[in-house]
Amino acid sequence: MRLFLAILLNAPMKDALIAAQNALYDRGVRGRFTGEENLHLTLAFIGEYPDADPVLDALSGVRFSPFPLELEGLGCFGDLWWAGLRTSAPLEALARRIRRALAEGGIPCDRKRFSPHITLLRSASGKVPPIRIDAASMTVEAVSLMRSDRGRNGMIYTELARIPAGT
Ligand code: 2AM
Repeated sequence: MRLFLAILLNAPMKDALIAAQNALYDRGVRGRFTGEENLHLTLAFIGEYPDADPVLDALSGVRFSPFPLELEGLGCFGDLWWAGLRTSAPLEALARRIRRALAEGGIPCDRKRFSPHITLLRSASGKVPPIRIDAASMTVEAVSLMRSDRGRNGMIYTELARIPAGT
């Protein structure tokens, strides 16, 4: 199965992201928009791995306190367009700790630099227009171990486990 670690988003964050997607659509942008249920922030991508338990074991020593997360701006990696997050030392530290713990536990993980983003659409047409994204924030209370499966109408993400803050 395909695994990754992510922060799942609260309703105000999702509302702001959906409003941004609608604003892009209204501006004529076309592409594969991420469904509301799939909006998330990835911290580490493991990829194909047979079992969730060793991943949870590897992460059992990762401690973090709740911290704020705030949307900020839009950007793109080629035709993948995303919403950004305000620069956050606790977020960077959490991603770093998770990736280090995975490596120490012998769990493979994509080694690309962490660039926090929430994918809004793929295969987007044209250039990112200068739309404003509504202010929205949340407190990160947990990290989720996610499984990703290819469904008939796109990816299906399933939460397998939660690693709560403050443990
Ligand atoms: P993306 O949205 O920028 O594609 C599940 O695929 C999640 O893992 C997505 O958030 C995806 O980011 C992220 N991810 C990071 N590295 C990946 C990789 N090498 N292959 C697929 N997804 C990756």
